[in-house]
Amino acid sequence: MTSAQHPAMDIDAGSIATAHRMRRLRRSDGLRRMVRETRLSPSDFIYPIFVTVGEGVRDPIPSMPGQSRLSVDQLAQEAAELRSLDIPAILLFGLPASKDAEGSGAWISDGIVQQATRALKEAQPELIVVTDVCLCEYTDHGHCGLLDEHGSVLNDASVELLAQTAVSQAEAGADVIAPSDMMDGRVGAIRQALDQAGFDDRTLLAYSAKFASAFYGPFRDAADSAPQFGDRRGYQMDPPNGREAMRAIERDLAEGADMVMVKPALAYLDLVRDARQRFDVPLAAYNVSGEYAMLKAAANNGWIDEERVVLETLTGIRRAGADMILTYHAKDAARWLARQGA
Ligand code: PBG
Repeated sequence: MTSAQHPAMDIDAGSIATAHRMRRLRRSDGLRRMVRETRLSPSDFIYPIFVTVGEGVRDPIPSMPGQSRLSVDQLAQEAAELRSLDIPAILLFGLPASKDAEGSGAWISDGIVQQATRALKEAQPELIVVTDVCLCEYTDHGHCGLLDEHGSVLNDASVELLAQTAVSQAEAGADVIAPSDMMDGRVGAIRQALDQAGFDDRTLLAYSAKFASAFYGPFRDAADSAPQFGDRRGYQMDPPNGREAMRAIERDLAEGADMVMVKPALAYLDLVRDARQRFDVPLAAYNVSGEYAMLKAAANNGWIDEERVVLETLTGIRRAGADMILTYHAKDAARWLARQGA
């Protein structure tokens, strides 16, 4: 029954201006699609993966159902799948054979990420390889930089190794270098090191507004990178600070970042919006491991409809203003979008 037919509504019919009716835009799927303000597409996604040593390894990550640690020989297949799903980019994290105080696995030329990059560029040259630059997966203490004798993280000495890491990743063929360590001055140092090594064509995606978040828990299981003592609050941002996040983005752009990131995404959507309004550069949001794990856990319990909740979440991140979303849901979401003909 329409409101016009409803006897009680007859009295009000004249006072509800027909021009104010919004439901006319929602009458059919076709209309809803036509007036849709935000579109989600596989081209928005960057798919993060964990690469490990060995052969024939597909080692499921318990806290991230559906995700596995893969050995380098598995990557060609992965790359082909991403291409067939129209996902343009992959983000690499490495689990080295062994860890040490200097995180040498990050910057040696045959490190795990460097091997993975070469394999991917050979298998699918068009797939964009993004490499995470950090030491925490490679240090035996689990911090993102070098330590002094009291166990505090040294800034400038760490920056040197991070720049070395970036250059070795570029040498292996990385298209986009993404520093996630949160040392001061690393973006400028990495830009300079890349330029000097002849890689002035490589893009820098800075994890600029990266918070000291509890939502990284599953990642640290996956990468075996939890700090052995203390925490990351001395270098990652304090969650209550939004204005400081804008300053960090501004600084990274001044140092030469081509693209910037807000991380995590969901508890920081206000900052995705603020960054969108203030900076006219490509903006990424990282839908992190804990955000993934929450939806997976609820879905696997039958408490929520996974497809709808994931697409609603990713659309929300886009609506807030992100151009790109780093998400472990990328492959599933791309499949659902293709099925919906989106
Ligand atoms: C490395 C790094 C982390 C993540 C991305 N790069 C872990 C951390 O900072 O502790 C987290 C990603 C995720 O949770 O999905 N520093």
